[in-house]
Amino acid sequence: MDKLVIDGGYPLDGEVSISGAKNAALPILIASLLSDQALNLQNVPNLQDIKTCTKLLSALGVNVNRDQSSYSLKANHVSNFDAPYELVKTMRASILVLGPLLAKHGEAKVSLPGGCAIGSRPVDIHIKGLELMGAKIIIDKGYISASTAHLPNRKLKGCRVFMDQVTVGGTENLMMAAVLAEGTTILENAAKEPEIIDLGNCLIRMGAIIDGLGSDKIKIKGVLSLKEASYKIMFDRIEAGTFMVAAAMTGGKVLCNNINPKQMESVIQKIKECGSKVDIHENSILVCGNKKLESVKIITAPYPAFPTDMQAQFMALNVVAKGANEITETIFENRFMHAQELIRMGAVIDIKHNTAITKGNGYLTGTNVMATDLRASASLVLAALVAKGKTTIERIYHLDRGYEKLEDKFNALGANIKRIN
Ligand code: EPZ
Repeated sequence: MDKLVIDGGYPLDGEVSISGAKNAALPILIASLLSDQALNLQNVPNLQDIKTCTKLLSALGVNVNRDQSSYSLKANHVSNFDAPYELVKTMRASILVLGPLLAKHGEAKVSLPGGCAIGSRPVDIHIKGLELMGAKIIIDKGYISASTAHLPNRKLKGCRVFMDQVTVGGTENLMMAAVLAEGTTILENAAKEPEIIDLGNCLIRMGAIIDGLGSDKIKIKGVLSLKEASYKIMFDRIEAGTFMVAAAMTGGKVLCNNINPKQMESVIQKIKECGSKVDIHENSILVCGNKKLESVKIITAPYPAFPTDMQAQFMALNVVAKGANEITETIFENRFMHAQELIRMGAVIDIKHNTAITKGNGYLTGTNVMATDLRASASLVLAALVAKGKTTIERIYHLDRGYEKLEDKFNALGANIKRIN
């Protein structure tokens, strides 16, 4: 398993080009299942999760061609409707094939994703919504078997679905299912994340009829079929946020290119609050760290509130900043595993239920730490960038799931990171 060895203490200086968004690319790649025509995508990030996703789509019979960050997918010969445990267990977003397979082919058998490091992450809202649209769903031996064979012309029925909880994946699964359903579907209490808007805009480009993207009420009018389309994936706002925190923590100066600052307001607000200077341009943002780093109060919540995927990164910032503060995680029940590793580096963190109280003590000491999940790994990299001495981060396959060549990008900014196979 690969490790990263990071020599701390180098302020970052330079510019970084932000890759396409993992959490937009995954549902959009899967949306190819809804169409018999080609779906041509640009700006797809080069990540382990993307490789897993295209492997699953190929196993279902989708023809996938790749040229760097451009993909062309054609699902006119899909003949297998099973998403096996072997693939789903490594990438939970595989559950998103359920809605499209049901909508297009009337059947699907998808392994329940099971829990993951950061929480139980059930898919009950996905299933309830599909049942409301007429699907017959049986859960047996860890698999979800779904069918519309009993429905007139095997079509899902559009209907009003009130989602008990704001769920990104649930909104995506049901929005894709509704695209080919008979009649109109209204998703109430829908997620408003930019990645939902990106998926919706791609579906509209393919010929879907969708209103309300970015609001908590999305209306989808079913169509008979979709057409060939090309689409460019939005920027990864979590990768961008990670580099902005790195600039703040190292007292460096980093220009993040190819982003839309309007979709990062809650994160930008916190970067300002910790004392950094922020220059916002149309498609880029310049963050100049300040020697006096202030800790910030974080409460994660659905968009446009502060994103849970940036919580771990700000915990790394808080533990080297001035003053005590609170980080409250309201989305996942076990998303503080980076805390124990940061404590090994000398951080002072006290966890009470879903709140971590951080006490900045100004410095961390390099040592051996272990990545436990994707964003926890990012927080350990950030901590190592400012720690005294060397830090070795083990199990960085977690990091590779969601960041494209992170060490190369940081080294180009002046960091000192080596990957050891
Ligand atoms: C997406 O996960 C992202 N993943 C996550 O990013 C992100 O943290 C999360 O949204 C929240 O923003 C992808 O887009 C691939 P949810 P998802 O459904 O869709 C509960 C990363 O680091 N829930 O919005 O799985 C659930 O347990 C990853 O890139 C139900 O109870 O998240 C959680 O507490 C990590 N029943 C809350 O809702 C359901 O049926 C939000 O989960 C569905 C969800």
